[in-house]
Amino acid sequence: MAHFPELVFSGVQPTGNLHLGNYLGAIVKFVELQKTHSCIYCVVDLHAITLPQKPDELKASIREVTAAFIAAGIDPKKHIVFNQSQVAEHAELAWVFNCVARMGWLNRMTQFKEKAGKDRENASVGLYAYPTLMAADIHVYRATHVPVGEDQKQHLELARDIAQKFNNDFAESIAARGHGEAYFPLPEPLIQGPATRVMSLRDGSKKMSKSDPSDYSRLNLSDDADTIAQKVRKAKTDPEPLPSEVAGLAKRPEAENLVGIFAALNQQTKQDVLGTFGGGNFSAFKSALVDLAVAKLGPVGSEMKRLSKDDAYIDSVLADGAARARVLAAQTMRDVKDILGFVR
Ligand code: TYM
Repeated sequence: MAHFPELVFSGVQPTGNLHLGNYLGAIVKFVELQKTHSCIYCVVDLHAITLPQKPDELKASIREVTAAFIAAGIDPKKHIVFNQSQVAEHAELAWVFNCVARMGWLNRMTQFKEKAGKDRENASVGLYAYPTLMAADIHVYRATHVPVGEDQKQHLELARDIAQKFNNDFAESIAARGHGEAYFPLPEPLIQGPATRVMSLRDGSKKMSKSDPSDYSRLNLSDDADTIAQKVRKAKTDPEPLPSEVAGLAKRPEAENLVGIFAALNQQTKQDVLGTFGGGNFSAFKSALVDLAVAKLGPVGSEMKRLSKDDAYIDSVLADGAARARVLAAQTMRDVKDILGFVR
């Protein structure tokens, strides 16, 4: 396999409340990776419109996700932060990938089935083609590493399949144009740590999600200390004391979830957490979790609030990031057009 320079890419949809799952599953890792890699972080507004959006709310959400990135510690000067719709090459490459990906591949995507629900005939074509756009997001920068939560794993496998098929189908043309044996790298998913799948606080069998009708199911990044405390105290548990070993969390999804959240917030393993709280009851553990969550999320929430008063600054970050992203994406599209045989 050809060697590609390491580059990190990831995206977050601007669709309502950002929650602890987005934070621990993705954003915390985005922040960490800045130390070792060049990173591109994208607010994927083209993905957001695969489901109906109100224009004013969409605009506010784009700014909110951007503010969350910055508040969490992403440096938009050293790295690239922008919204997807400002770089037309994402949609352009997605079209090419619609012609590379096979119907059978997309038919297997579980997220489409979940989001489309029973009324599949009435789902947008965009919702169906969502994963080819996601592949384009990554490949338009020829990114090599993609930090995401567990729920995006299947989409990343598809992105690898698309890269592989493109590299195979056009192998001769790729080599003839001096790109060696592969034009697109096969991106590596980075799905690690104790919180790759944060579950609902009300039901340990359901993923924490923006679309859950109960606000008590999630901690939002914008929640204040009192709200965080209330939600953690009300979080579902079971009557047993906490186990002393990780194996004791099996079949106790709510306990496992809260221990995983604690571990991720405190940068520990689940076993470390059980070393401290094993054998104890949930109320002492929950009090410690409230303090920890308030200490970690509180500053992010207040910085987001401060940034929410400065749309001009947020918009300038996005415009600057988009300008830099466009340069990289445009080069890829020129190469892709040559590889495909388009006249340009
Ligand atoms: P989105 O906007 O649904 O979620 C953003 C990130 O948060 C992670 N996540 C979670 N992690 C742990 N536990 C949870 N309960 C939880 N809920 C969400 C997601 O895995 C994701 O990493 N399709 C993507 C956005 C996207 C993208 C991309 C990602 C578009 N293009 C290219 C990577 C590369 C999505 O809908 O994420």
